[in-house]
Amino acid sequence: MALQRPKGTQDHLPDGSSGSHSRTNRSDTRAEAFAQVVETARRVLTRGGARLIQTPIFEEADLVKRGVGGSTDIVRKEMFTVHYFGDHGGFILRPEGTAGIVRAYLENGLKQWPSPLKLWTHGPMFRAENVQKGRLRQFHQVDYEVIGAADALVDAEAIELMVQVVQALGLKGARVKLGSIGDPADRGHYNDYLRETFTPHTERLSDDSKDRLDRNPMRILDSKSQGDQTLISELGVKPMLDFLGEAAAAHFAQVRGYLDTWGVEYDLDPSIVRGLDYYRRTAWELHHEGVGAKSALGGGGRYDGLAAELGGPETPAVGWAFGIERILIALDAEGVQLPEQAGPLVFVAALDPEHTGLAAQVALQARQVAHAEFAYRALKPGNVFKEAERRGAIYAALIGSDEAASQNVTLKHLQTGEQRRVAINDLNAFLLEHP
Ligand code: HAM
Repeated sequence: MALQRPKGTQDHLPDGSSGSHSRTNRSDTRAEAFAQVVETARRVLTRGGARLIQTPIFEEADLVKRGVGGSTDIVRKEMFTVHYFGDHGGFILRPEGTAGIVRAYLENGLKQWPSPLKLWTHGPMFRAENVQKGRLRQFHQVDYEVIGAADALVDAEAIELMVQVVQALGLKGARVKLGSIGDPADRGHYNDYLRETFTPHTERLSDDSKDRLDRNPMRILDSKSQGDQTLISELGVKPMLDFLGEAAAAHFAQVRGYLDTWGVEYDLDPSIVRGLDYYRRTAWELHHEGVGAKSALGGGGRYDGLAAELGGPETPAVGWAFGIERILIALDAEGVQLPEQAGPLVFVAALDPEHTGLAAQVALQARQVAHAEFAYRALKPGNVFKEAERRGAIYAALIGSDEAASQNVTLKHLQTGEQRRVAINDLNAFLLEHP
């Protein structure tokens, strides 16, 4: 059997070629739809003042471990380690974009830029997760970060921009779940409370959660084990929001106040737990029925401690990312069709072999004004039209000996059937006027 792509990866195929409807056990992504998600995000985020940044897809292992955090599933179970000859795996394929962006911010002195600095990026991320629908090992994110401001206004603007991007894509059913995970001291108190609450019932916890009880009890709340979830509701565990200190509570009230004023809708989620360790205060996720309750379209939050964790000065920051593949699943579920890539305006073909070069030349010339393609071999007139239609062309241009002698093409509008002679010299002007 021919070689296949690794589990948990996808091919992004051109329009019309994916055959995804006929293949039942493989899901491919449409490269054009994917690009349009990125393009829409670029438009919305650029209007919001964000600048594009790209960082390497592999980073020092230490950056990932310190950035994402030692108690996370990502660091404990899902890292792709990079080996090359003579090396022992000191690099990790990035599982997310934030740690690398903050590293780049510190390393390149971006602090000198107008503050706060808004950055956005998009690209592949890697997590060795259990593969299922919408859960891949190589997936892609659009990521937005604002570095250098602690103000609640920045959090609210970030959430608004995230909502703007999905709305601009035509998605209607995405809901923001908003919460706060407080300051580190608040979380300390909450974790103490959770340890006290769960310890008498340790034997009922899943193995993973027994481990979490020690390292980061909050993560138990996020457990995928049904037994854990039953225990949580039986015990009536209080949410993180009940443990917010004064400063974090005031900040959260401000964020909500701005969103309410602007009419940005959200559902309060008093017990939100994010899967990364760097968050403080505001935390949110974007959910959609089409991708299931357990998986988010996107997520974000404030991460004021990350820069210092990476060896830089204390730098307040907030940001979010969404998964492009999951956005495409949600768009599919809502039946939103992103436009397909258009075919050529004109398909040029020679009717005899001695004129194939001329046909090509006409197409090359037409490319100054439009998308033009040509046949590499001479075709019979009927086949010219067939080939032009297969490519989705608007016009077919034919060159036989008559046309070649008079330096004309016969141009046929494939939908109306209207046919005319156009001088090769006038073709570009005609195409511009009749696109
Ligand atoms: P995250 O919640 O880990 O946050 O990931 C953000 C989004 O990436 C998820 O909501 C999901 O759509 C997508 N995603 C994550 N894992 C997978 C996967 N295995 N397969 C498909 N899609 C996936 C972050 O990554 C943070 N860096 C977001 C952030 C930016 N926080 C502050 N700034």
